[in-house]
Amino acid sequence: MNKKMLITGASRGIGKAIALHFAKKGYELILVSRSEDDLKSVTLECKRLGAKTYYVLADLSNVLKVKEVIDDIQKTFPNISNLILNAGISTSLTFEDNSLENIQNELNINYLAPVTIIKEYIPALKTIGGGNIICISSFSALVPFPGNSSYAASKSALYSLCTSLKIELEPYNIHVGCVLPGSTKTDMTKQFHETPFVPFDDPSEIAQCVEDSIQKKEAVVIPGILYNAAALTYKLFPKPVDFLMTLAAKIVLPTLKK
Ligand SMILES: NC(=O)c1ccc[n+]([C@@H]2O[C@H](COP(=O)([O-])OP(=O)(O)OC[C@H]3O[C@@H](n4cnc5c(N)ncnc54)[C@H](OP(=O)(O)O)[C@@H]3O)[C@@H](O)[C@H]2O)c1
Repeated sequence: MNKKMLITGASRGIGKAIALHFAKKGYELILVSRSEDDLKSVTLECKRLGAKTYYVLADLSNVLKVKEVIDDIQKTFPNISNLILNAGISTSLTFEDNSLENIQNELNINYLAPVTIIKEYIPALKTIGGGNIICISSFSALVPFPGNSSYAASKSALYSLCTSLKIELEPYNIHVGCVLPGSTKTDMTKQFHETPFVPFDDPSEIAQCVEDSIQKKEAVVIPGILYNAAALTYKLFPKPVDFLMTLAAKIVLPTLKK
């Protein structure tokens, strides 16, 4: 398997951390997102670390455009064997306050864009003898997430897709992994950085989880003991977790902007 890697949402946060992580490991990187200045600066940082790095400007909210962008990327950068599907948005609103337009956009970027990219790449990955597809879902795919239910639903869809696809694509030497970060210190969560008792992971920890999924062919990777314990607790004892989430919702929901 070669060391060519496409990373969506690489302009900042977790995607940037993944780019820097794999730049240090000698990967050739193709970075995708919308913000040219940020992408240029991440590209430069990766090049300084010795990695051949290119960037492609693309808005992943329109599925038909995503198909066109991927066709172009496949022509310009053939034989990419690692896809890291990380780009995402979070509306962070209660379901009642959220608009259908917002929910649709969130679903497009968080779920339908990865679906489109994976569908476009399966034939190419089969031709080159396999590869790795790692999707960045969220811990919220596994537990109740009041105040961000449409986000959690989009991430659950992605998680569910990955666990099934892993089995479908294994015979073709294509590994599908899903990383489910908990709260991670990036722009996405900045409105909560001051909330007491919320532990934030560093984006570099999520980058390490991506490498773990690739190296160990892990289907599902949840970063850190705390989130692993919480996932297991919810599976075994959903009622006490619901109770704690109800208490947390009383603190967090009033702080959400409409
Ligand atoms: N931070 C957390 O606590 C957390 C927890 C669980 C899961 N996650 C997931 O981790 C992933 C990365 O999140 P993050 O925390 O790093 O957030 P972030 O700092 O807001 O970064 C989001 C990335 O996605 C890109 N993106 C957003 N909309 C896009 C669009 N329409 N087209 C193309 N690219 C787009 C952004 O680039 P441009 O703006 O340049 O387009 C940016 O690079 C997301 O899928 C998120 O759901 C995050």
